[in-house]
Amino acid sequence: MVIALAKAYLCGYYYFKLLKMSKAIAGFSKLTKEQKIEWIAKEYFSNTDEAVSLIKKYWNPDVQLQQLHDEFIENTITNFYLPLGIAPNFTINGREYIIPMVTEESSVVAAASKAAKFWSARGGFKATVVNTEKIGQVHFLFTGDSEKLCDFFNTIKAKFFEETRSLTANMKKRGGGILDIELRNRTEHLPNYYQLHATFETKDSMGANFINTCLEQFANTLKREALAHEQFSDEEKNLRVIMSILSNYVPNCTVRAEVSCLVEDLVEDDSISGEEFARNFITAVRIAEVEPYRAVTHNKGIMNGIDAVVVGTGNDFRAVEAGIHAYASKEGRYSSLSHARIEDGVFTFWLEVPLALGTVGGLTTLHPMVKLCLEMLGKPSAEELMKIVAVAGLAQNFAALRSLTTTGIQQGHMKMHLMNMLNKLEASADEKQLAARHFDCKAVTHAAVTDYINSLRSKTLTS
Ligand code: MEV
Repeated sequence: MVIALAKAYLCGYYYFKLLKMSKAIAGFSKLTKEQKIEWIAKEYFSNTDEAVSLIKKYWNPDVQLQQLHDEFIENTITNFYLPLGIAPNFTINGREYIIPMVTEESSVVAAASKAAKFWSARGGFKATVVNTEKIGQVHFLFTGDSEKLCDFFNTIKAKFFEETRSLTANMKKRGGGILDIELRNRTEHLPNYYQLHATFETKDSMGANFINTCLEQFANTLKREALAHEQFSDEEKNLRVIMSILSNYVPNCTVRAEVSCLVEDLVEDDSISGEEFARNFITAVRIAEVEPYRAVTHNKGIMNGIDAVVVGTGNDFRAVEAGIHAYASKEGRYSSLSHARIEDGVFTFWLEVPLALGTVGGLTTLHPMVKLCLEMLGKPSAEELMKIVAVAGLAQNFAALRSLTTTGIQQGHMKMHLMNMLNKLEASADEKQLAARHFDCKAVTHAAVTDYINSLRSKTLTS
């Protein structure tokens, strides 16, 4: 007894000590926003006042608007800005667009704008939605006769539809719903592992909540019906549902974006012929098709465009990223998402990507900037947004490959990065103007910019 008490005391003592040492905190989410900030500032910052003041500087003065943002997630202390830029002059299927892009990378919007202008003079971008099917799965373990399971599934299949009728009614009115449910035997990969593999049409919503709600109902139906199935043994009756969740891999929810023009129309000056430009460009794409190290960077360039529009329109960029990279590996090896060819003197450059996007639900009507971006795009349907996003990716890829195969990427990239360097050096407006002029035809490097600003400052001091 005495030993047990001593042990309990020591445990409590060390736990308390550990808490003190590790700065662990219980009930953080219950603190008010002010209390959270106070605690963080005290525990993690040497200059408490400075930290608090910076955190609060990013609060929106409109209290209601700030509260809306506070309530998007748990434990919000402030807002985190990313710039929203506009890439104008996009022509997609004959219609003109300005594309809102949210990104921190200096050269992305400029590159997209340049590609948009280039292609708007050559017929613009063409985009088509190939298909729009979403996927969700109920993953379960069944120990027993797989043929009996198959018969059981076929007998109860209609019940999955019947018992989700109230959940799917609204979606059906919009032309969507559950398309099909299959039983898949995956025991080859994992003992006793089966799935209900369901396909959905979710129209203008991304559909995550709709799909997950339907799947959880499928799981309930499956468990209940298995338990009552007389042909099953006791072990078979107790099939074990592991989880029910949508898949972010949507290889049948894809969009194709394309540009094409005569090879000789590809160039704007006589530094390079159309043939040579096209040959180098196509070889660069081929390299990304066969070489995964290059493919990842090539596709990252595409994602520069895709993510920027996906974030601006309030869509789930992690889902889009995960799905697109899986798609890039669909042949068993990571490869380029874009392709190019010359046929009968015509250069064609295209990509096909899976995109599960929504223009209703989620943040689309809640986040004021998302609403603004969607309005700027003409309040697109999900299919229209798929086209716009794919085009942003293709434009970005075109701009990157054009630079890479001609001037090299650093020229344009560092020019755009110049402003970041000047801000880091706390350059004044005059210094920025002088530096922009100075570096117009010179290589921008960190050392060169620092030297230039220092020389300007020493001149001012001596004059
Ligand atoms: C940089 O963000 C993106 C690029 O690396 C893409 C590419 O290499 O194709 C320029």
